[in-house]
Amino acid sequence: MPFNTELTRALGIAVPIVQGGMQWVGYAELASAVSNAGGLGLLTALTQPTPEDLRKEIRRCRTMTKNPFGVNLTLLPALVPPDYAAYAQVIIDEGIRVVETAGNSPGPVIKKLKAEGIIVLHKCTTIRHAQSAVKLGVDFLSIDGFECAGHVGEHDITNFILLSKARQVLGVPFIASGGFADGNGLAAALSLGACGINMGTRFMCTVEAPIHQNIKKAIVEAQETDTELVLRRWRNTSRLFKNKVAREAVKVERESKEGKFEEVAPYVSGKRGRQVFLNGDKDFGVWTAGQVIGLIHDIPTCEDLLRRIEREAVAAMKSTQSLLVGEDDKPAEVYGVGKSKL
Ligand SMILES: Cc1cc2nc3c(=O)[nH]c(=O)nc-3n(C[C@H](O)[C@H](O)[C@H](O)COP(=O)(O)O)c2cc1C
Repeated sequence: MPFNTELTRALGIAVPIVQGGMQWVGYAELASAVSNAGGLGLLTALTQPTPEDLRKEIRRCRTMTKNPFGVNLTLLPALVPPDYAAYAQVIIDEGIRVVETAGNSPGPVIKKLKAEGIIVLHKCTTIRHAQSAVKLGVDFLSIDGFECAGHVGEHDITNFILLSKARQVLGVPFIASGGFADGNGLAAALSLGACGINMGTRFMCTVEAPIHQNIKKAIVEAQETDTELVLRRWRNTSRLFKNKVAREAVKVERESKEGKFEEVAPYVSGKRGRQVFLNGDKDFGVWTAGQVIGLIHDIPTCEDLLRRIEREAVAAMKSTQSLLVGEDDKPAEVYGVGKSKL
């Protein structure tokens, strides 16, 4: 059953589900599979070494789906930042209609993207950052709760609070990100005022995700307690899969007297993390995963996953609705509520 929300209407998609940008995972195979299933797939710009490589990847993705897909542009602080303007230009030249910005204020690219009428979906972990992004003119927000994979922010506010606060104060449509894997989650997000959900870890564990099967199996076997927060000491907290290397990193971080980032840097190397997805050794380096690993029990195709989530969401919404009783259906005696026997 197709959904009708501000997100589905604006993006021209059937299911209000976005596949969040994922470094070393967000290639055309996954993005096109999500879009073909009726959600919004996103290519991850910085997974491509150069803007020209991103252009090729966008073109490759177009051969794999006729449906809309977007690009994630992650603006992380770096000593030598990538050429964001050049990546944004390729996105514009290639006719992409929706961009997920994340990591930092969309300030450096938003003017350029909005001048071309591109829909900007900005992902952030605090209401304050969301409000700043609204001032800059973003179209949608993706509210990333503390449950999420990757950069969780420094305030540890979970989605129960963040989403309701977003509903109360933002005045711009938002989707819920972090901790979603099934249709009950989607129904809950819609009830809290979101117009869709964003999923990362769940999509890693699909047939089309271009990562080693062992890593997908590791996710299936994991519990919600199997993530680790690293780099808190440097206020750059990241939620990672709890493996040997992540545990070591946390140990060094906690025990170091000097607290120099260089001490922990070798453990959190992105290069080694990338290898994990290729060689299937879950302990080879650190890799990103959210607490939602505890809710993932299989490796479906994106098509099967989205159909299942749709069915579950509809069933959950109907079942919640069935809890409402009309005036005439009132039970003769109500204990605890209203007509108390006490
Ligand atoms: C392996 C992996 C890599 C990720 N890389 C990025 C990234 O490069 N940029 C970004 O904005 N978000 C990144 N994320 C976060 C996701 O886009 C999404 O916000 C997050 O996974 C939502 O939480 P969930 O995993 O509970 O669904 C990554 C997530 C995972 C699992």
